[in-house]
Amino acid sequence: MATANTPRKILVTSALPYANGSIHLGHLVEYIQTDIWVRFQKMQGHTVHYVCADDTHGTPIMLRAEKEGITPEALIEGVHKEHTADFSEFLVEFDNYYSTNAPENKELAQSIYKKLKANGKISTKTIEQFYDPVKNMFLPDRFIKGECPKCHAKDQYGDSCEVCGATYNPTELINAYSAVSGAAPIRKETEHYFFKLSECEQFLKDWTRSGTLQGEAANKMGEWFENGLNDWDISRDAPYFGFEIPDAPGKYFYVWLDAPIGYMASFKNLCQAKGLDFDEYWSKDSKTELYHFIGKDILYFHALFWPATLEFSGHRKPTQIFAHGFLTVNGEKMSKSRGTFITARSYLEHIKNPEYLRYYYAAKINSTMEDIDLSLDDFVARVNSDLVGKYINIASRTAGFINKRFDGKLQISNTLPSAVQEIKSSAKLIAECYESREYGKALREIMRLADHANADVAEAAPWVKAKLEGDEAKQDLHLDCSAALEMFRLLSLYLKPVLPKLVGEVEKFLNIVPLTWASVDSSFITGHQINNYEHLITRIDPKAIDAMTEANKENLTATPQVSAAAVSKAAPVTAALPEAEYISIDDFTKVDLRIAKIVNAEHVEGAEKLLKLLLDIGEERPRQVFAGIKSAYDPATLVGRLTVMVANLAPRKMKFGMSEGMVLAASDENGGPFILSPDVGAKLGMRVK
Ligand code: 2FM
Ligand code: ZN
Repeated sequence: MATANTPRKILVTSALPYANGSIHLGHLVEYIQTDIWVRFQKMQGHTVHYVCADDTHGTPIMLRAEKEGITPEALIEGVHKEHTADFSEFLVEFDNYYSTNAPENKELAQSIYKKLKANGKISTKTIEQFYDPVKNMFLPDRFIKGECPKCHAKDQYGDSCEVCGATYNPTELINAYSAVSGAAPIRKETEHYFFKLSECEQFLKDWTRSGTLQGEAANKMGEWFENGLNDWDISRDAPYFGFEIPDAPGKYFYVWLDAPIGYMASFKNLCQAKGLDFDEYWSKDSKTELYHFIGKDILYFHALFWPATLEFSGHRKPTQIFAHGFLTVNGEKMSKSRGTFITARSYLEHIKNPEYLRYYYAAKINSTMEDIDLSLDDFVARVNSDLVGKYINIASRTAGFINKRFDGKLQISNTLPSAVQEIKSSAKLIAECYESREYGKALREIMRLADHANADVAEAAPWVKAKLEGDEAKQDLHLDCSAALEMFRLLSLYLKPVLPKLVGEVEKFLNIVPLTWASVDSSFITGHQINNYEHLITRIDPKAIDAMTEANKENLTATPQVSAAAVSKAAPVTAALPEAEYISIDDFTKVDLRIAKIVNAEHVEGAEKLLKLLLDIGEERPRQVFAGIKSAYDPATLVGRLTVMVANLAPRKMKFGMSEGMVLAASDENGGPFILSPDVGAKLGMRVK
């Protein structure tokens, strides 16, 4: 395996992140998983192209841009820069990171659509959809909110309830309202374009059987087949940020139609830059391999729509789809209130070193769709123990002797020590683990070998030999430390897909050309000159973790976001308010605000701040309200004035009597309180809304 490989041509993708949010630790599971696989394949000497792009189309992005007062193009350009920087700092090395809003994608999407149409796979149907009569747009399910028909929780999305987990149609919501304008949506007819997925069932069944999917994913497919495949609605009406459907003015491709085509577009763009042959990778009879790394939540799109789209537009199908699970932090869903919804940027600001996370994720990743947990305590313990305590320890305990006592020159014995032999003999197993995405298993093996190497060093005890007199001790010291560095070289090679930067530093220190998998078969030779050992890695300070979670708790109020962005898995970059701080129109209308006439105002004996007001809102008798406005008003000046009161505040028993409402007043450190006055014409009892 180490040397006798037939070169392969491989195209690899990770799912395209939405262009309306920041990359967070949940996203990074996938990009790190893919990057490790790609780096491993490149170390094997294969030709690998790793492409990705921002997923830029759709209603959330259009509305987000509108809210920010910029064009969608400006929004996605800013996010593209942000994503590119985040990926690059996490050492995720794409061969091309592009955008779905690109000419190549438009051309490919339109030509694929035309081929599907020519193959009889497109139909049209008039459907009825929710429409926002204020905003004049059709509303995606996620933009309709209302009361859950099952548990009656308020403000639930149109497709599922976050409180009881029920799924339903938006038509079933009670008191539905548009999350865009707050208006009650109306039902409106419109013609939509459909991809006839129902006709692709046999093809998809055969394709599933061809071993393209993990066991769990194939089972999921089985369930979908049992339920029957529905035709796929691929059009959206204007206004929509996306590509127009040919010969269908005002109709746009649904974002999920052109998103996976973005894989092709990004590759096409790379082909233009590098002179590669696009058709060699995408034609129906392609001999190359194509792998998509995705999260399990988007399996439906990649295992049904995507292969069917490719097949019936005359393209090759994916060789395999690798679906992974979700990230939990400390055993729970990432949470803003617990400070565990952590962006890539925030991690970098606090923890600094991206390879700690790469290592930890790799230690947890396997080939299944199980969720993986980032336990923050375990993260610190594991990284400090494995990387600092085991791996780097081998060099830090031995290199100094080579540098100081032997001018940095190695001495290699003719017979390889058994520990070196053992490390070399694990190359095949470790390669198989990387190939099959069993990174956790690979790292366990590598750390087992590191334990052996450390035990060898401990037994050789160079620090003792260094103090002994005589040539024999000196010779042993030289051989032992050189052997330790050979073991360190091999372990570095095995860790390189996971820790490319650290191993790059190691290569400089060892004064060797970049390690590839074939480097397993070579060894240091006597006389090889290494460079001075400098500290390669530091321990994670648990305080940095605490600071990071604290900062992310603060972000709940400091980092703005919009509810529309809940559509995406990404945390939005900027917007008006944190989602938790928005109230719905329903929340607002719960407050009964009324124009009130102050019919009496007087001091309250014994109360420092209060005035007793009688407020007439047209009821049988005026309400008694105690208001903390004594410092600013002479009661006599208030009588006869109109103001605004909260009329449905629960009555409160105070020391001086019942308070039956509240007047609204403005104040801050610059002054107040100032009670509110309505404009001329307002009458007592009027509802404020
Ligand atoms: O679920 C998501 O985040 C999508 N933006 C993934 C798209 S992957 C591909 F199909 F484009
Ligand atoms: Zn519910």
